[in-house]
Amino acid sequence: MAYLLGLDVGTSGVKALLVTEDGHLASSCLEEYGLASPKPGWSEQDPADLWAGAIAAIGGVLAKEGITGREIKAVGLSGQMHSSVFLDADRKVIRPAILWNDTRTAAQCREMEERVGSEQLRQIACNPALDGFTAPKVLWLRSNEPENYARLRHLVLPKDYIRYLLTGELKMEISDAAGTLLLDVRQGHWSQEICEALDLDMSILPPLVQSSEVAGFITDEIAAKTGLAPGTPVVGGGADNACGAVGSGVVKAGRAMISLGTSGVMLAHLEQPSLLERGTIHMFNSAVPQEFYMMGVVLSAGLSYRWVRDTFGGPEALVAKASNSDPYTLLGDQAQQVPPGANGLVFLPYLTGERTPHGDADARGVFFGLNPGHTKGDVVRSVLEGTAFAFRDSLTLLRAAGWQGASARIIGGGAKSPLWRSIIASTLNMAVETINVDEGPAFGAALLAGVGVGSFSTAAEAADTFVKITGTVEPDRDWVPIYEEYYGLYQDLYPALKPSYSRLAQILGR
Ligand code: XUL
Repeated sequence: MAYLLGLDVGTSGVKALLVTEDGHLASSCLEEYGLASPKPGWSEQDPADLWAGAIAAIGGVLAKEGITGREIKAVGLSGQMHSSVFLDADRKVIRPAILWNDTRTAAQCREMEERVGSEQLRQIACNPALDGFTAPKVLWLRSNEPENYARLRHLVLPKDYIRYLLTGELKMEISDAAGTLLLDVRQGHWSQEICEALDLDMSILPPLVQSSEVAGFITDEIAAKTGLAPGTPVVGGGADNACGAVGSGVVKAGRAMISLGTSGVMLAHLEQPSLLERGTIHMFNSAVPQEFYMMGVVLSAGLSYRWVRDTFGGPEALVAKASNSDPYTLLGDQAQQVPPGANGLVFLPYLTGERTPHGDADARGVFFGLNPGHTKGDVVRSVLEGTAFAFRDSLTLLRAAGWQGASARIIGGGAKSPLWRSIIASTLNMAVETINVDEGPAFGAALLAGVGVGSFSTAAEAADTFVKITGTVEPDRDWVPIYEEYYGLYQDLYPALKPSYSRLAQILGR
């Protein structure tokens, strides 16, 4: 039997997934690691931890399925976007990687806007300068750690770093390169104009590869370490969101995906590029060659629900343990008893700032309208509703950019909650669909590997063959007008609070 291996180098761990050439999911193995936050708002990871996780996950999945490396036909990589791995002339890591959810670079974002010009940036990189992206991290290194900057010779992203270690080839794959702010997204090459404006030496940027192009082969040394066979092809792969789109069949115009993980993403596939005049919606290259996607990012979607579980869900955790159930199910049952609108409690999910639509690292979470009658069920429901309102903000921007789809496929851990799915469908006033595979980006990466070695003709064909819609959640006609009204109130709150967010940041010395 021939297998394809998808490897997703994520923020909380590496997932290795084996898929057969007929699209059957065989086994998976997840190796977790942590994040470091040496200062408030900072988020870092040692690339050595990512590498150790990758080796362990590959070995783990081979052992689990009881197969040898010779049965793996190709490897595809996916990974967290934007996070910077800085390498020196010997290709050694200079300092911990600065991650996509790090918010230290506000000054460098302004520097980019001034040096490149906001309009130029929008025209070339097709995105605004936002904290999460990679180029501001390079400018931060130059201003704050000049000795490290002086050693910088190669800039790579997490999955491309893992590919370098697997194959010896230092390359950057294009859907991920789009998240650096240094790529001419529409033309698909590095932007000399942006690099010159920023006074960055273009030689730090590795050669680009396409998502399903073979980008290297497993070396003998790594074969001995991982159990993979020497010479196994490794394809370009894709950014986690690009691979998530392939893995959920969002590979054609009109289709969209809602991903409910720690962060939330609302993504629409585009056959032609589309730019908004302003705003924080992103446009990147998709894993389908010469096509694109637009997306909004809700930084704390699943994270908000996890915070509720960890902070208020102690009793539910105990009951769940005793009854072999899940605290989220027990909390969801309480929210189910509460009417839409959570009896007047509105939650803003900005626990770690917000990307879309506000682009504000200083924003923070809010419960608005608390009264003594509110219960835990109200709190849970308002959190599920607040994140749904945040997705509605992204949908509004996607519609403004011309997206005309009528439904979105929902994936990720949060998609398992029927109540959350109904709240999202009713808030967006749009059908939400569940699908047969929810293996996330690793599945998309495995399909791209298959395209690279000829198992499938294109990513779109592979996705359409293996990904099927299993259910549709229609908006609840009674809830839609209620959510319409509450969404209006939700929209009023951020502008009213904006000055207070800056003031809080000052008080906290951020
Ligand atoms: C996308 C983004 C996140 C990361 C998560 O712009 O920052 O979705 O890709 O890994």
